[in-house]
Amino acid sequence: MSVTLPVALDPVRPAEPVRIMNHAAITGWGSYSPSRVLTNQDLAQLVDTNDEWIRTRTGIAERRVAGAGESTSTMGVIAARRALEQAQLAPRDVDLVLCATTTPDYLLPATACLIQQQIGCTRAGAMDINAACSGFVYGIAIASQFIQGGAARRVLLVTSETLTRFVNWQDRNTCVLFGDGAGAVVVEATPQRTGVLSVALGCRGDVERMLVIEAGGSAVPASAETVAKKAHTMRMRGNEVFKMAVRNMTATAQEALAKAGLKLDDICAVIPHQANLRILTATQEALNLPAEKMFVNVDRFGNTGAASISLALGEYLQMRPARVGDHFLLVAFGGGLTWGACVLRWADVAAIVQERAQKLSA
Ligand code: UT7
Repeated sequence: MSVTLPVALDPVRPAEPVRIMNHAAITGWGSYSPSRVLTNQDLAQLVDTNDEWIRTRTGIAERRVAGAGESTSTMGVIAARRALEQAQLAPRDVDLVLCATTTPDYLLPATACLIQQQIGCTRAGAMDINAACSGFVYGIAIASQFIQGGAARRVLLVTSETLTRFVNWQDRNTCVLFGDGAGAVVVEATPQRTGVLSVALGCRGDVERMLVIEAGGSAVPASAETVAKKAHTMRMRGNEVFKMAVRNMTATAQEALAKAGLKLDDICAVIPHQANLRILTATQEALNLPAEKMFVNVDRFGNTGAASISLALGEYLQMRPARVGDHFLLVAFGGGLTWGACVLRWADVAAIVQERAQKLSA
């Protein structure tokens, strides 16, 4: 019996020689923020709030809001192209596309699949990760494991959120906090003893519903009633989440440092999830970290969920280019409830790019 095989869309490339390269380093990074700025004064027109409350309780002055034609995938595509360009990597040489998001374009298909198609990563598998605001750290954990286990050489990790589409603009407890944006990194195999040195992940299933979007899934399917109740938007018991965030970000950062065999003095910058300046200050104090080592940009972007660490990392690197051997500690807490941290040792990126160019052109 003869079987008709589907036409291959992209010719299979001959396999590169197998060689165990156990380290996974960031070789490209890029970000995108929508141009529309929403200030605290703008929000005071919508709900009973004011600039002073928002600044003193959250540290946020303004946030970005996606435009009418923008979505999680369109922002993710721009950030991903910038990361690939920075890494001088062709889309067809990516093995896996990951998208960490809580606000996918659709329930199906996954946003990573849309990004994979639009960028032209024709040889790559693709899947989404939902670890809410911890998405970047979870994504780094998955990307580095694919690389360290030998299943992938180059992973494109995109983090993108359109949280303002899931906000109840009548709820002052939440609508002042969130913003939109995207960041992406290329994580790549290298024989250098650099890249992801350690990862610590944690979770406590949110059965108490501290931070939820209740409707639109299989438990509470969409209906006229759920729409009327705004049950497709975020609800949060902020004060409880706040305390858990400080406790768990501190503990998970210490765990990742211990696993890497490093001390805080060895770290040149901590790049945390940007939820609230008070959470960052409390965590910094609990860690006994000098304030100048904690990178903060929540004032200009608000809480951008899974995208916040990659946006912050991109901004940090633009201001202070990393040197080979610099150590970074990334730490996050978010819905789920999830948390995690990882320690990175900055690689000699130019050497990785050069070695790759020689290998791929051979
Ligand atoms: O990304 C990870 C997940 N999210 C987070 O990590 C966020 C964690 N939580 C927080 O950042 C903070 O809890 C909030 C910023 C959300 C709230 O700050 P808070 O200091 O915990 O305030 P609260 O919820 O205890 O509320 C204090 C008061 C309340 O009024 P009463 O009951 O004392 O009269 C609120 O109704 O502040 C009131 N309030 C506001 N007032 C003016 C709440 N939101 C606002 C607002 N403007 N936007």
